Amino acid sequence: MHAQISPSILSADFARLADECERVAGVADWLHVDVMDNHFVPNLTLGLPVVQRLLHAVTTPIDAHLMIADPDRWAPAYAEAGCGSVTFHVEAARDPRMLARNLRAAGARAGMALKPGTGIDDYADLLPELDMVLIMTVEPGFGGQRFMSDMMPKVRRTRELLQGRPDLDIWIQVDGGVADETIEQCAEAGANVFVAGSAVYATDDPYLACQKLRTLADTGMASWCA
Ligand code: DX5
Ligand code: ZN
Repeated sequence: MHAQISPSILSADFARLADECERVAGVADWLHVDVMDNHFVPNLTLGLPVVQRLLHAVTTPIDAHLMIADPDRWAPAYAEAGCGSVTFHVEAARDPRMLARNLRAAGARAGMALKPGTGIDDYADLLPELDMVLIMTVEPGFGGQRFMSDMMPKVRRTRELLQGRPDLDIWIQVDGGVADETIEQCAEAGANVFVAGSAVYATDDPYLACQKLRTLADTGMASWCA
């Protein structure tokens, strides 16, 4: 298993989105698109019409992170539009099991996100319905926040649950404050998909930043992954 890098375009120039995505083409495994509705989180970004246009403009698969209320109703459209991965917040979902099934039926990988205050153990029975667990390492809503290293036990616990289920192939994503200084500890704890916003787009060379993050992540993952 290799590290996957998913640069968050939240820190990119929204007036030039397609060009900004192009800057990481060939090095990014995914483009992480943060959808915020000003209800689930106190911030507003972009929604389905922008994602639909972006899907036509870029070749890198889109990893949609939906920080929205009522994902049961709104999330499947992102899968139908062609996003390769669609992640909803379990705190906002009415029926996460059904929602994950709907996302998969629409052709996407189904992701479940946990805010810092939400544990994994209560949702362990949902794992067979999922392709990814996103463990937030900041409170969702804004880029550029300080990394919460106290989330590492949750990452470790999730990896432990997955190692007990070799029949499942589920990724662990971390998002928030992931940078050169923090990515290795996430990887060591068991993450294999790494979202980075400011650590990629607030630099002069987003391509190089992704390469560096990947090398550090691969080093960290070597401790548990063959
Ligand atoms: C925050 C978003 C993140 C954000 C990360 O709620 O989910 O994807 O873009 O930004 P950085 O990497 O700057 O913390
Ligand atoms: Zn995100």
